[in-house]
Amino acid sequence: MIAIYPGTFDPATYGHIDIIMRASKVVDKLIVAVLNNSAKQPMFTVDERLQMLNETCGDISNIEITAFSGLLIEFAKHSGANAIIRGLRAVSDFEYEFQMALTNKILNEEVETLFISTSARYAYLSSSIVKEVAALGGCVESMVPAVIGDRLLQKIGK
Ligand code: PNS
Repeated sequence: MIAIYPGTFDPATYGHIDIIMRASKVVDKLIVAVLNNSAKQPMFTVDERLQMLNETCGDISNIEITAFSGLLIEFAKHSGANAIIRGLRAVSDFEYEFQMALTNKILNEEVETLFISTSARYAYLSSSIVKEVAALGGCVESMVPAVIGDRLLQKIGK
């Protein structure tokens, strides 16, 4: 099975990395796909987000890390993927995730969305929380790998 793990990854957290490691064990190939969408006003450029993912997950043998724009389902078709992987943290994620899964299913019924539940220790974690904590001078050591934490500090000028 070829699966896509799409996201904004602004930046990738230990929660994302955990899903990448676990998903890569159950699929033949995992394409980690960074959304290139200028409307979202991310903190990091696409190249920076790709670099951070490469630095932290690049040594997993069956993954490819790349960017995409436009419809995810078109990218999936173009990549030969038959599944989309998403992580689920809490009930609050469910509505948005269910809506995306159903939309993608209507656009292409050949591609299944598969959910992996977060590891309990990362259930609170999101890229937004990490950026907020870092911006306010808090320690993000348990939330992101050091290479990403350093880049966060550089970005916010600390
Ligand atoms: O990390 P995120 O921000 O929760 O990821 C959201 C993402 C990138 C998976 C989603 O925004 C997406 O798939 N965008 C591409 C546009 C698209 O296909 N939209 C229709 C499906 S809802």
